[in-house]
Amino acid sequence: MKILKYKIQLSLALTTSALVFLNSCKNDPLSPGIEFMPDMYRSVAYKPYEENPNFKDLLGARPPVQGTVSQGEFPNSAFNINEAFYPFPDTNEGYEEAGNKLKNPLPATPENLKKGADLYVKFCSPCHGDAGDGNGSIVANGKFPSPGKYWDRVLANGLNDGKMFHVITYGKNLMGSHASQLTKEERWLVIHHIDELVKKAAPTLIVNSTEASAKSSKKK
Ligand code: HEC
Repeated sequence: MKILKYKIQLSLALTTSALVFLNSCKNDPLSPGIEFMPDMYRSVAYKPYEENPNFKDLLGARPPVQGTVSQGEFPNSAFNINEAFYPFPDTNEGYEEAGNKLKNPLPATPENLKKGADLYVKFCSPCHGDAGDGNGSIVANGKFPSPGKYWDRVLANGLNDGKMFHVITYGKNLMGSHASQLTKEERWLVIHHIDELVKKAAPTLIVNSTEASAKSSKKK
């Protein structure tokens, strides 16, 4: 009985050391050793930027099929900003042109307003404040200068939806571009919310109409 136990122990020890031996004897120090199911470790698919011999140009990352529309774009919008590029340059003229030509393609449904408010709180409130008065948390604690009130900007710059889109896309002075954080669709959703904030604070200001960009009121 005892001998049998020793025999088992001995064969276990031999098997283990044989496995260790087999696994450790590799020339390549980076080799993981024996791979029992290599497909599980190594994807058979090409990595996005890997060379791909199946194509003449060897590019693994293929350009989108012609006519493809990415999420957040508006192929049928009257103001088609669905070009591969955004057509208005980051200049004062581009700012004015965007203000004249761009219109919010999304309807101000309760659902869209809710989405816009949600995005606003996440991306804009820290500076602009929940109410849009320029007193967000990092302004209140003295870490960042106040961007001012949106409704003052409507008076000063004729701020309207198109100009807002332009500023969110490129940024302006201390404000960085938010193009990588918000899709075009999300930018328009946020703009609906800003319009709501302006309406609440300064009900007599007209902000979303492109031709009547900023009509100041006597009251304000
Ligand atoms: C890090 C702080 C910061 C964040 C975050 C921020 N902004 Fe701004 N924003 C500013 C500052 C500062 C200005 C004033 C820029 C200037 O005119 O010098 C500004 C100006 C603006 C203006 C007015 C531009 C004009 O032409 O008068 C709009 C509209 C605006 N921001 C929208 C947004 C939206 C929408 C978001 C969120 C997606 C956002 N901002 C996030 C700091 C910020």
